[in-house]
Amino acid sequence: MAHFTKATSVKDWFDQRLAIDKVEKVMMSEYWIPKNINFLWAMGMVLVVTFTLLLVSGIFLLMYYQPNVATAFDSVNYTIMREVDFGWLWRHVHGVAASVVFLIIYIHMFTGIYYGSYKKGREMIWISGMLLFVAFSAEAFSGYMLPWGQMSYWAGMVITNLFAGGSLHADGLVEWIRGDYVPAQAFLNRFFMLHVLLIPLAIMGLIGLHFAALRIPHVNNQDGEEIDFDAESKKYLAGDKAGSKVMRFANDFMAKDMMVVGIYLIFFFYLVFFHYDFAMDPVNFDPADGLKTPAHIYPEWYFLWSYEILRPFSTNIGLIAFAFAQVIFVLLPFLDRSPNTTPASRRGLFKIWFWAMLVDMIVLTAMGKLPPEGIFSTIGLVAALTFIGLWIVLPFITKMEKKA
Ligand code: HEM
Repeated sequence: MAHFTKATSVKDWFDQRLAIDKVEKVMMSEYWIPKNINFLWAMGMVLVVTFTLLLVSGIFLLMYYQPNVATAFDSVNYTIMREVDFGWLWRHVHGVAASVVFLIIYIHMFTGIYYGSYKKGREMIWISGMLLFVAFSAEAFSGYMLPWGQMSYWAGMVITNLFAGGSLHADGLVEWIRGDYVPAQAFLNRFFMLHVLLIPLAIMGLIGLHFAALRIPHVNNQDGEEIDFDAESKKYLAGDKAGSKVMRFANDFMAKDMMVVGIYLIFFFYLVFFHYDFAMDPVNFDPADGLKTPAHIYPEWYFLWSYEILRPFSTNIGLIAFAFAQVIFVLLPFLDRSPNTTPASRRGLFKIWFWAMLVDMIVLTAMGKLPPEGIFSTIGLVAALTFIGLWIVLPFITKMEKKA
């Protein structure tokens, strides 16, 4: 057993047993962050804060929500929204956070792409990030089922139907996922379990992995400069704080992070109090009815780009294109063949690739919301083909890039 001495303070008592000083150094005061980064590097912390808001508001909602097809709709729209004091506030916080978290995830992802933060040594940060994206998508979808409104029911129907695999006709698989022929009680029960337990647990584990993956390569910086963290941190500890290229995570960088988080929270609560309806589909304020199909079934805004990749094609090709869109981002560190970790602005053809991808995904999102008719369906088809084409050319254009 280790050698224990009489503790000189409560902190010392814990330190001898849990090495809290060391943990504090590794994770806070000697976790080194480059100075040369801008506000976009605060998005990770904004995501942590938003996830915490989702957890806390979700726990309050769980006190009154009923996962039963006969009472779920009323437990949300009547009990929580009207009867429980401040129930509406928790629901608005939860709904707005569920939508805004995707906006921040997309900004965080595209920051990583722009600065090449997925390159050599940082692949695991990227892969764990993409797994978080998938887990958040599943979390959002399962949560959308819970109010058991018209959109919950019909979106549940449409998405589970995808598992039939078009001409493969895997109808047995669809029934197995639903636990019934159509979305019903078994379906609601299992999506409730996924939403409140299994997926949040997976998300917490993945956030742990994402942070662990950051520890060795450290975060990237605005110039993609390869910083010698050992030498720079020694300089800092020796007192040359101004000359060192790094700073402590806590409290130095945290103070900057908190400034961005503060501005974000003003924007967030503005939405919660004045524009919460942007995050809620009016069709979902009608209770689920298996005999009345809504005129247009479309997903929330953050899934529209991938929905639009599925829609312009025939069933089988559409499913393949959709599956492609879901997995291709994970492979980015391996498809980008250039050895340079530099911002896209200094990377020749990749600069064009980056902006083309961003604009294309915005066009896909806009077209996904519009009915697939006339010019909209043509633009949707061109944008879907452009998306696939951009991924195919990526290894070639990055291979041609000269070493910086
Ligand atoms: C809720 C989910 C997520 C949380 C809580 C989270 C948190 C963080 C934090 C705190 C950082 C360090 C600071 C920063 O650069 O912002 C970070 C870095 C990073 N994250 Fe995430 N992240 C999440 C999702 C994602 C997703 C979806 C991706 C995309 C695949 C991703 C990719 C990255 C990359 C590449 C970095 C490194 C940035 C660099 O080295 O400059 N993350 N993340």
